Amino acid sequence: MTDDSDLTARVQDSFDPERTDPRLRELLVPLVQHLHDYAREVRLTHAEWEQVVDFLTRTGQACDDLRQEFVLLSDVLGLSMLVEQLEADAAPGGTPQTVLGPFHLVESPPREQGDDISAGVPGERALVTGRVLSVTGEPVAGALVDAWQSDTDGNYDVQRESDEIGQGRGLFTTEGDGSFRFVTVVPSDYPIPTDGPVGELLAATGRHPNRPAHIHFQVVAPGFALLTTHLFVAGSVYLDSDAVFAATPDLVEEFVPDDDGEQAARNGLSTPFPHARIELVLTPEHARAS
Ligand code: BEZ
Ligand code: FE
Repeated sequence: MTDDSDLTARVQDSFDPERTDPRLRELLVPLVQHLHDYAREVRLTHAEWEQVVDFLTRTGQACDDLRQEFVLLSDVLGLSMLVEQLEADAAPGGTPQTVLGPFHLVESPPREQGDDISAGVPGERALVTGRVLSVTGEPVAGALVDAWQSDTDGNYDVQRESDEIGQGRGLFTTEGDGSFRFVTVVPSDYPIPTDGPVGELLAATGRHPNRPAHIHFQVVAPGFALLTTHLFVAGSVYLDSDAVFAATPDLVEEFVPDDDGEQAARNGLSTPFPHARIELVLTPEHARAS
């Protein structure tokens, strides 16, 4: 027999210290504590528990090769960003890490400096120039910079009824001074997928599903930790209410009108053109917790 007070301890003690991986036990024992405390605190009813089970079951059923509803749930509950922040505490000084998001689905095509990654979608052409640096300010040459973004209507290539996969995506290799550059259209804000259980949760809690306009970046370089981050477009309406809590002031950049004729000619633009600059700072490989 168990009573309410020793039930929690009995479940925790059931994870045999001799036969359970120590880290797994370290994860499970507090999990049981928090789950049980939560149920006691809110006086969880059987009917509510059944609803939770049904919600999680449907969340799993909504997942397939192209859709990860559990990650989306973690994103809208702020857990994904919390994990990023906890890891960043172990590796200070780098560009803030953010969620990957569900649209890094296809490999970005390798591009040359100055290429137009937007591949013909409508919209004013803009320039993004960036540098990849170490935390001590040295340029990182030969880094692979993967950039992906929506178009001006907020759609990624994989969401459009077109065979133009690779539109809005580019894989760049940094120059000796750590620089890279590309032409694109300024993306717009867009909603996360709302046709599954996560959408129901947002609707039931009066939350909008939108993300501020952004460009995703992932940077890989030998000796450095993988960086996954965003550039958020200054002035975007949802900067203060990103549905997945990834937007932070450090990552906001403005597309400012630039009348640099040399830069325009080099990148096939005419002056003035909108120009955003970004620095991507990498932390050493083993600084982040594994
Ligand atoms: C996105 O950036 O597209 C995204 C990120 C997290 C969840 C859903 C969408
Ligand atoms: Fe995105």
